[in-house]
This record gives sequence, C-alpha cells and structure tokens, in this order.
Amino acid sequence: MKVSTLRRQAWDVLQAAEIADPVREADWLLASVLGFPLHTLVVEGDRAVSSVQAERAWTLIRRRAKRQPLQYLLGTQEFRGLEMAVTPDVLIPRPETELLVEATLQAVLDIRGPRVLDVGTGSGCIAVSLARGRSDATVVAVDISAPALAVARANALCHGVGDRIRFVQGDLLTAFSVSPDGVFDVIVSNPPYVPAGELDALQPEVAWYEPRLALAAGTDGLDYHRRLLRGAPELLKGGGHLVLELGRGQADQVRRLSQQTGAFISLECRKDAAGIERVLVARVGAGGARGT
Ligand SMILES: C[S@@+](CC[C@H](N)C(=O)[O-])C[C@H]1O[C@@H](n2cnc3c(N)ncnc32)[C@H](O)[C@@H]1O
Repeated sequence: MKVSTLRRQAWDVLQAAEIADPVREADWLLASVLGFPLHTLVVEGDRAVSSVQAERAWTLIRRRAKRQPLQYLLGTQEFRGLEMAVTPDVLIPRPETELLVEATLQAVLDIRGPRVLDVGTGSGCIAVSLARGRSDATVVAVDISAPALAVARANALCHGVGDRIRFVQGDLLTAFSVSPDGVFDVIVSNPPYVPAGELDALQPEVAWYEPRLALAAGTDGLDYHRRLLRGAPELLKGGGHLVLELGRGQADQVRRLSQQTGAFISLECRKDAAGIERVLVARVGAGGARGT
C-alpha cells in the first residue's frame, strides 16, 4: 500500500468517528509511525508502506477512533515550548495552564533563590517549566499518584532539571511542616476542579481516558481549592503567593472562599485567551499568615 492510500483511508476512519480534525490527526499518527516529519507526508505519497508499518498505523488509528486522546497515542504534548511525555497516568497539559507558570515567575521576579511548591504536579509540566525558567529556584513537586510522579521525574530528567526538583508523594500540603518564617515563596497548583456531576458530560477523550484523580473534585468542584486556601497561608513566607487554576465560572466562589480565610491581603483573577477567569493570584501579608 502507498502512503497516500493509507492517509486517505485513515482520514475516512477518523472522520466517521467524528474526530474534529481527522486529516491533521491522521497525519500526526502516520508521521509518527513512518518516522517522517509531518510536512513530508504529501511528497512521500508514492512511497510503499511495509506491512509492519501499516499494522502499527492501523492500531493507532483504531485507538484514536475509539476516542483515545491523540497525545496519549503520540506520548507527548507541548507545554511552553517543551515536549512533555504523557501517559494515561497524567492529565494532558492544557495551554491555559501556561498562565500559572507566567503568574508564578512574575511573583518571584524580585526574589533571589525562590522556593516554589507545585501541588498536583501530574506530568510535571509546571514544575519543569519553573525550574527551567528560574535556574536559582528550589522547586518541590507533590502528587498523590506514584505513577504520575514517575512521569514527572522522567520529564524533569529529559529537560535537564532532574536534580533541581524534589518530588514528593503526598496528599496536597500534608507532607510539609509549618515553619515560623514560612517555607515557600509561592505555592502553585492546577488542582482537580470538575464537579462530580459534570464528569460524564465531558468530551469522551477526557471523560473516558484522562485520570479521574486529576479531574474529580467533589460536588461543586472546589474540594481541593478549599483545602489549598486553608492550608497554604501557613506554609507561605511573608508576602508569598498562592497561584491556583480555576474552572470556568468558579472565580466568584473561589474569591469568596479566599476572603473567608482572612489570610490574604490581595486577590487577583487573570483571564485566559477565551476571556475566562482562569488563574487566582492570592498574596499573604508581609508577616505571612501569622501577621495578617
Ligand atoms: C488537574 S491535574 C494537574 C496536573 C498538572 N499539574 C497539569 O497542570 O497538567 C491534578 C493533579 O493532582 C493530583 N492529585 C489529585 N489529588 C491529589 C491529592 N490529594 N494530593 C496531591 N495531588 C493530588 C492528580 O494526581 C493530578 O496529577
């Protein structure tokens, strides 16, 4: 069979499976199997595909037609210009999460040797980006999932920051002891935030294949935000920041929860490219949680 024939058949299968961009996705999968750069698939159209390659390509196309995410099939997702390895044990990094990294880097701009904690690190996309963005930062990354931490460690090694991030298996902030001067300059987290009742309505790629542990967050989707807003202030140094990702429509409620703690002197919500309030940046007073 020729490359061009395989391409057309793959497009048809993915179109029938209602994949939104069947041509692009089929081409990504075929390029990965054939070992060609994407843009050369057209010029290589007359080349013969071996039976082994065709079988491997059809395995991936069939899995995609069953709505397995393209990123799990390719094993990678780009995040802030870095190729992050992904497996079904971790959430696929989303573009809006890059805003958390920007907000964190901004928060530590004037701090030498900042200490940053990434809670629910998953693939490690935030922790790795921060370690690369600030070579003098000490980064700690925590996740409750051991398989996720294995992926995060591999990503840190692959991007040359394996020795700069301490990975910890634990339940949110419980692994860290309070110190009178605070421990971290910033605590950043993209926690699970999907309300339990909305999980099954998510698109199949998310609902059927991404880890529930990375998504589900109780009845209103704010179980983790509540715990982080309560626990973070006593771990933050004076003037330190808590940076949290928010789901669509959660900003008002999270602002209220933040105010109820009485621990923060400023609260700011930043919008993503779609105009959704996506990131909460909350700051404790100069005396830390103890002094506000
Ligand atoms: C929404 S994902 C975020 C992953 C990654 N930081 C990102 O932005 O792509 C949430 C992560 O929190 C982790 N998690 C869930 N419950 C947790 C808990 N109680 N303590 C620590 N991590 C938890 C999940 O395993 C998952 O990796």
